[in-house]
Amino acid sequence: MGSEKAYYITTPIYYVNSSPHIGSTLTTLAADMLARYQRMQGRKVWFLTGTDENAIKVHRAAQERGVPTQQFVDELATEFQQAWKTMHIEYDDFIRTTEPRHVRVVQEFFRRMQENGDIYKGIYEGWYCVSDETFFAPSDVGEDRLCPNAECRRPLQWVQEEDYFFRLSAYGDRLLRYIDEHPDWLEPEFRKNEVIAFIKQGLRDQSVTRANPGWGIPVPGEPDKVIYVWFDALINYVSATGWPDDMERYQQLWPAVHLMGKEIFVRFHATLWPAMLMSVGLPVPERIFGHGWWTIGGEKGSKSKGNLPHPVQLAKDIAAWSGAEFDIAVDAERYLLIREMQFGLDSEFSEESFRKRYNSDLANDLGNLLNRTLNMVWRYADGRVPQPLEHNAELAQLAEDIDKGIAEEVYRFRLNGVLEQIWRMVSRLNKYLDEQAPWSLYRNGEVERAQGVLYDVLEGIRLCALWLAPTMPVATARIWEQLGIGTQPVQANWQAESAWGRLQPGTSVQQPQPLFPRITEEALAVTTEKETEMEQSNLITIQDFQKLEIKIAEVKSAEPVPNTSKLLKLTVDIGGEERTLVAGIAETYSPQDVIGKQIVVLTNLQPATIRGVQSQGMLLAAEVDSKAILLTPEKPVPVGSKVR
Ligand code: MSP
Repeated sequence: MGSEKAYYITTPIYYVNSSPHIGSTLTTLAADMLARYQRMQGRKVWFLTGTDENAIKVHRAAQERGVPTQQFVDELATEFQQAWKTMHIEYDDFIRTTEPRHVRVVQEFFRRMQENGDIYKGIYEGWYCVSDETFFAPSDVGEDRLCPNAECRRPLQWVQEEDYFFRLSAYGDRLLRYIDEHPDWLEPEFRKNEVIAFIKQGLRDQSVTRANPGWGIPVPGEPDKVIYVWFDALINYVSATGWPDDMERYQQLWPAVHLMGKEIFVRFHATLWPAMLMSVGLPVPERIFGHGWWTIGGEKGSKSKGNLPHPVQLAKDIAAWSGAEFDIAVDAERYLLIREMQFGLDSEFSEESFRKRYNSDLANDLGNLLNRTLNMVWRYADGRVPQPLEHNAELAQLAEDIDKGIAEEVYRFRLNGVLEQIWRMVSRLNKYLDEQAPWSLYRNGEVERAQGVLYDVLEGIRLCALWLAPTMPVATARIWEQLGIGTQPVQANWQAESAWGRLQPGTSVQQPQPLFPRITEEALAVTTEKETEMEQSNLITIQDFQKLEIKIAEVKSAEPVPNTSKLLKLTVDIGGEERTLVAGIAETYSPQDVIGKQIVVLTNLQPATIRGVQSQGMLLAAEVDSKAILLTPEKPVPVGSKVR
């Protein structure tokens, strides 16, 4: 690595409690697209992604699967790496927080912050959400004792333990000043305002350790404590640079541009992290961008809900619907994910709108343009790039404007805007062909004019492929190949190639081969037939079943729900955690009958309020003559045992 400062771009490191989906793919893809764009600009680039492995919920997920935690995280880290590779994502480094290179640096951060008096010991008393791995003060939590995060709403754990605290409260003013003096630091603008409001309401000191649950980075010298997973995770961006051992490498990389979803923008990336860096005397990140979510029916799509597809599965689906080659389908998915997301805002995910967009943008606008142009080149110019009639000032100007437009959209992280810019040219070329009608010119004997039009369109397509290369590295290489260009756009130098008129007349083009075959109703019918068969036969897949979290619970207390003869309110222990259930068993059981009984409970059901009581799960029972008969294990088992 030379001495020039690199464009250092990062994604969040993903929790390895389950597989990648198109949410994590979106951020990783955005980083890949920006990295490729900057590489094509001739900049040195360093693109970091990775996995967050020390979380309590990761440890729990491993225990639930009955696998040693290290083996579990190894498997999932590999799955992430493979998924990114399949999705044509080219990172330079993949950091895992269980690696010694990271653990060392986290402990060093801790030590330095302790030395400068920013870390002190105290008693933490408050709520903790294991799913969000977030502390909540009692004042943030309602009577329901559920996670205040509207997207989570899971039961919280009451924590009372001796912990270390970071003096975050001392950094509010410095952070506000930094934000004020660096207007482009936080993007988008409206989310910056959320950060300002969050800091202005007063920052509380942050607990940065937890009682050791048997997994995590130990606090130096105090093995009964581990470092709080967010404190640990954020440091990955610095530990991957080699700091403090390899200062030369660190200097070339740090500071970084951070991309992430909005849920971890305000509190963690734009507040806690810069304050931690200020505390150890390191520069804060270069830029921080928080994008919106893929939503389904207006709600955040997530792994726990299991409603966002795995990126590789979606690519397989696109290939099956369209008949496109798999690697082209991957690129199509990349295009669709970027194009359908309003960067900054939430966007609704639907297969239907992806298919529509595929047909309109890729099959019609771009694919068909390439196809019909090459056909005409064979018909009217012997399969060679013809001579331009004259310099097409209008298209050249448009190209220059688009080039500038792309740079602006990239600067503001509006990646869908980049594609909209490029489509100004795609649409113009389609219209230009129709206006000029080279087929009529040729028929009327104006061969040179017909050929001149074809040159302009081919040249326009060449540029579109150049600009699209960061989004679709493989498909755009095919386009250049069909144009007879011997190099790949993704390897090209953007500035050198972006001048209008670089396509060499005389170059032999290839026979047109449809790149993005249209998705037809017939093809769709065939691929959905299998799914329909399954639905009709009432079968579910093993993956569907695995989404259910069923456990053995013990009934601690029971009481009737007022004004109904059917319901009992139960408090059950599901293994170190208590839940309230509202169950329709009062016609068969009195409260005394069930106290102390072991029962079977579905624990990951969305909470529902029944007769004013919040039910956080559902017990399983046999139905006999419309009455419920409880299921219990054949012999007593440890409470919390998983049912499979
Ligand atoms: N481990 C933490 C991050 C630590 S970074 C120092 C974490 N991991 S996560 O696995 O939950 O990943 C969260 C990130 O995944 C989001 O910030 C976003 O980048 C991506 N997404 C998860 N769900 C998403 C959507 N529904 N839509 C868009 N992006 C989504 O938080």
